[in-house]
Amino acid sequence: MRVFLTGASSGIGEALARHYAVAGATLGLAARRRERLGELIAELPGEHACYVLDVADAAALQAAAEDFIARCGCPDVVIANAGISVGTLADAADDLPAFRRVFETNVTGMAQTLQPFIAAMKARGSGRLVGIASVAGIRGLPGAGAYCASKAATIAYLEALRGELRGSGVEVVTIVPGYIATPMTAVNRYPMPFLLPVDEAARRFARAIERGVSYTVIPWQMGVVAKLLRLLPNPLFDAIFARAGRKPRGLDL
Ligand SMILES: NC(=O)c1ccc[n+]([C@@H]2O[C@H](COP(=O)([O-])OP(=O)(O)OC[C@H]3O[C@@H](n4cnc5c(N)ncnc54)[C@H](OP(=O)(O)O)[C@@H]3O)[C@@H](O)[C@H]2O)c1
Repeated sequence: MRVFLTGASSGIGEALARHYAVAGATLGLAARRRERLGELIAELPGEHACYVLDVADAAALQAAAEDFIARCGCPDVVIANAGISVGTLADAADDLPAFRRVFETNVTGMAQTLQPFIAAMKARGSGRLVGIASVAGIRGLPGAGAYCASKAATIAYLEALRGELRGSGVEVVTIVPGYIATPMTAVNRYPMPFLLPVDEAARRFARAIERGVSYTVIPWQMGVVAKLLRLLPNPLFDAIFARAGRKPRGLDL
C-alpha cells in the first residue's frame, strides 16, 4: 500500500503516518518542518519519502507528487490533512492576513494536494482521495470565522470532487473530526466534549478510509452533535454560541 499524506509532522498526520507505516505501507510525508519530518521518518519502520513543503505552494506539491509516483508508484491513498486553526474577529483588520493564510492552507492547500494525483488514479481506475475537514465547518462559530468558513469550504469542495469522480473508480472520503488531542487543540481553554486520543483517532480514520465511506464524523458522538447543530434554529444557535469559549487569536501560523 502507498499513502501520500500532508501535515505529517504533528498531531493527526503524524499518528496516521505511524499507523500506516506499522501496517507496512510506503509513505510520502509532507509538511514544512524538515527536522520533525526527519525525526519521524527515522523512527518509522520501512522506507519512506519526505517532502518539505508548504501546501500553499502548488508547484512544490506538483513536484512532490511527480517524485512520489516516479519513485514509489501511484498512491492508493492521498490524505490532505495539513491545516491550521486560529481565532479571528470579523472587525479586526489585523486578523485579515490570518484569514487569508487559513484559506490558502486549509482550502487551496487541500485542492493543491489532491489535484496532482487525480489523473494517475483515474488512469489506473482506483484510489482514495481523503480530505480532513472539521465539525467546525457545520456552522459558523463566533470568533472562528476563518477556520469555520475554511472547513465548510473543504466539505463542499470534497463533495463536488466526489461527483466529478463518480464512475472513475477513484473514491473521495470526507473525514469530519470532532475534538482530537493534538497540539492544535492543546491551546484551547474551553471544554472539548468527546476529546479523542490521537492514536485512536488515527485508527478510526484509517478504518473509514479502508471502507471508502464518503463522509464520516469521528468520533460518532460528535456526528450526533453535528446533526443537532444543523437543526438548531438561528436565534437559539446565536444565543448559545455567543457566549461559548473562543480559540485564541494571533497564534503563530
Ligand atoms: N485536532 C482536532 O481536534 C481537529 C478537529 C477537526 C479537524 N482537525 C483538522 O485535522 C488536521 C490536522 O490537525 P492536527 O490537530 O493534527 O493539528 P497539528 O498537530 O497542528 O498539525 C497540523 C499539521 O499540518 C501541517 N501544516 C500546517 N500548515 C501547513 C502548510 N502551510 N504546509 C504544509 N503543512 C502544514 C503542520 O506541519 P508543519 O507545521 O511542519 O508544516 C502539521 O503537521 C487539520 O486540517 C485540522 O484542521 C483537527
